[in-house]
Amino acid sequence: MKNSLIQTITIPKIFANGTLCYVEGKKHLPFNIKRVYFISEPVSGLTRGKHAHHKNVQIMYCIQGKVRVVLDDGINKAEIVLDKPEKGLLIDKMIWHEMKDMTEETILLVLASEYFNPKDYIRDYDEFLRLVKKK
Ligand code: TYD
Repeated sequence: MKNSLIQTITIPKIFANGTLCYVEGKKHLPFNIKRVYFISEPVSGLTRGKHAHHKNVQIMYCIQGKVRVVLDDGINKAEIVLDKPEKGLLIDKMIWHEMKDMTEETILLVLASEYFNPKDYIRDYDEFLRLVKKK
């Protein structure tokens, strides 16, 4: 699998009575954060994601446990394991993404460039490939 799809954004981590990580908007990220969501207690072994976005760009942090993320731009695929709270993964628009190998302990924190909009989702892989080819 090709690796050029993988762009990580590592944020500061402070060791003080445990660990503390922080993200400062545009200082660390290539967009203004409009939305924050988190996924906790995922069903173990179930794949999540399986979609791309027309416009939304996201950074995903695995703040507890681990996740394997597969990214696909319609031509190349790449994957990465996130298992450190400070290591963020950029998921650009028009990137098909799947989150795998999560356990019940896994917590994903996602910072998004857009407000939630169901119309921004491409959930059909064939449609995604059609859109990629059109560009
Ligand atoms: P979805 O993005 O499909 O989750 P995943 O990719 O992890 O499987 O979202 C799951 C459900 O939650 C779906 O019905 C849309 C809803 N949702 C919101 O209402 N607001 C949000 O910000 C997000 C991310 C999802």
